[in-house]
Amino acid sequence: MSSARFALLSLCSTLLLRAALGVNPFYHFCSTSNNFTAHGPYESNLNKLTSFLYTKTPSSGFGLGSIGQYPDQVYGLALCRGDVSPSDCKACVANAGAAIRRRCPRSKGAIMWYDECMFKYLDAEFFGQIDNANRFSFYNINNVSDPAAFNGEVRGLLTGLVEEAYSVSKLYATGEVGLEDKMKLYGLVQCTRDLSATKCKECLEGAIGKLPSCCDGKEGGRVLGGSCNVRYEIYPFVNV
Ligand SMILES: *[C@@H]1O[C@H](CO)[C@@H](O)[C@H](O)[C@H]1NC(C)=O
Ligand SMILES: *[C@@H]1O[C@H](CO)[C@@H](O)[C@H](O)[C@H]1NC(C)=O
Repeated sequence: MSSARFALLSLCSTLLLRAALGVNPFYHFCSTSNNFTAHGPYESNLNKLTSFLYTKTPSSGFGLGSIGQYPDQVYGLALCRGDVSPSDCKACVANAGAAIRRRCPRSKGAIMWYDECMFKYLDAEFFGQIDNANRFSFYNINNVSDPAAFNGEVRGLLTGLVEEAYSVSKLYATGEVGLEDKMKLYGLVQCTRDLSATKCKECLEGAIGKLPSCCDGKEGGRVLGGSCNVRYEIYPFVNV
């Protein structure tokens, strides 16, 4: 198969998948309460921070930093999904760093999520605090046949993963559990590594607590926040 044809096919399947899930390729929030002036010191610091995070993040999958002096100081972090390779992490952080500027051209704060990474910056120190302001969820439109039992399995899997994740330095865990009819349920939980273990646990429990309102009886669901995220699907979605 030619590479062009392959690319087209994979593009189609990606689009179909997105259409099926009813999602866009990424999500973002822009702060509109505070804008910086073009070519000013804040923008220059943000540019430096963006390159710093691009350089720093791929090796461990997490980067955090601050550039400049008040009132033009900018704080930021980038986090790649725990299974993502350094090269894919680098590509994702590069995309996010560029896209966030197109989407939020003058914002002094913004956050953007992709499947494989997130990128956040702000004009105030936010490290170590749980970010519940920037949180959203989405789900696979397909319904499961026995919601009560399925929701219980989801909660059980993810709660177990929280116990695992907050006790390791990566603050990340994935797992799977067998369901009836040879189906399997796959889960992932992850925190940004500026959080303490206890804050990570608190953040993840909060995210799991959102599942009944977003994703009740759905075949897949995610709750994404500025400090942690949880996801479950009935298909494998992480690299092992
Ligand atoms: C910042 O810019 C956005 C987008 O251009 C605009 O909607 C918003 O009102 C601006 N905020 C302030 C405080 O000027
Ligand atoms: C899932 O269930 C909801 C609520 O009952 C319904 O509105 C929706 O159409 C169902 N989705 C599918 C894909 O069948």
